[in-house]
Amino acid sequence: RGRTLSFKSRPQARDDEASYIYETDGALLVENGMITAAGSYAEVASKAPAGIEVIDHRPLLLMAGLIDPHIHFPQMQVTASYAANLLEWLNTYTFVEEQRFADAAHSARFATLFFDELLRHGTTTAAAYCSVHKGSADAYFTEAQRRNLLMVGGKVMMDRNAPEALTDTAQSSYDDTKAVIADWHGKGRNHVAITPRFAITSTPAQLEAAGTLAREHPGLLIQTHLSENDAEIAYTLELYPEAKDYTDVYARYGLLTDKMLLGHAIHLSDREMHAISEAGSVAVHCPTSNLFLGSGLFDLKRLKQHGVRTAIATDIGGGSSYSLLRTLDEAYKIQQLRGHRLPPIESYWQATRGNAEALGLVDRIGTLEPGSDADIIVLDACATPAMAIRMETVTTLEEELFLMQTMGDDRSVRHVYVAGEAVHL
Ligand code: GUN
Ligand code: FE
Repeated sequence: RGRTLSFKSRPQARDDEASYIYETDGALLVENGMITAAGSYAEVASKAPAGIEVIDHRPLLLMAGLIDPHIHFPQMQVTASYAANLLEWLNTYTFVEEQRFADAAHSARFATLFFDELLRHGTTTAAAYCSVHKGSADAYFTEAQRRNLLMVGGKVMMDRNAPEALTDTAQSSYDDTKAVIADWHGKGRNHVAITPRFAITSTPAQLEAAGTLAREHPGLLIQTHLSENDAEIAYTLELYPEAKDYTDVYARYGLLTDKMLLGHAIHLSDREMHAISEAGSVAVHCPTSNLFLGSGLFDLKRLKQHGVRTAIATDIGGGSSYSLLRTLDEAYKIQQLRGHRLPPIESYWQATRGNAEALGLVDRIGTLEPGSDADIIVLDACATPAMAIRMETVTTLEEELFLMQTMGDDRSVRHVYVAGEAVHL
């Protein structure tokens, strides 16, 4: 029992009340890990079996668990690395740190730390890049299953332009991805994603292998990086001179599909946006990362005009916060710099239902609709003294949401439920 907020569709304006359901005295009936009824407390109570336990979270706000559709599992110790730009950051810090995930004990330790941190921040589903090592994916999915979490992940495919110890081959990346799929996809709530890191670290033969995997497993998500940084784009076009542009590199190998999550997607021509829109691929905004690495300002308005599906993510360790609330704040500021005011309800839609739609998982997660998995967070807009003082003047849901994204972080996440079970934060 508490206030409940769940989205029905992408808000079209800041006051688009038709896009969500908000109950000031709401409740969710949870049975066997699923939400079986939602609505006003009176309504839900009338449907509940006699003697059922009532957990009273009033006056806090219940929402679907937050979803982080682009994050790097082996980069917990890469955050806050001092670099001039993306390629320097990758070569100096990231490609060094990820080598440590060759070790099973290291991977297992970080899988525990990683999911602890996500849950503390109210993130109940993520789509993560593991390292090149199959063992890192094994550690990731073992721990996700142990906690009954719905997690997406993939062994990174990378066979050039990285240290020897961090490269596979076209064939071994195909074989290892096949093995990860066989071992983990559909085990517990696990979902495997085909994960070619980006064009620079894959030979044409490896992107070919990724395309083959995508054709052989049409239900699987694919994740990669696209057009994050000017030097990255220039180098990509040198490596793939036959491609029309960066987006076309992925399209040529059959990877530009409605399963594709394109991290960053910042510097795109109209042709590229059109191609991405036609394919139904998703542009994943990573605002804290784009600011931290100085990569650029995501062009949300133009992407929407082209009909491109979008998502929002942390991109830890290029990103600087695990918190989707902090991430929404930075996304808002990026749109301010672009002269575009982003409504808070659209931001919360994106972090919940919108990201679930991007992952093709909206039937399972991202809303409080009956039939969904009971991944639920309980948010507090008065989490700090400064927030509580500001809340004294807040009168609307929109203002409360905006305050929480502007000033809030993990401290606003008071309770988390995974498949109906309370998580110890
Ligand atoms: N491009 C290729 N790999 C990475 C990565 O690990 N992080 C970011 N931000 N961009 C990338
Ligand atoms: Fe990334």
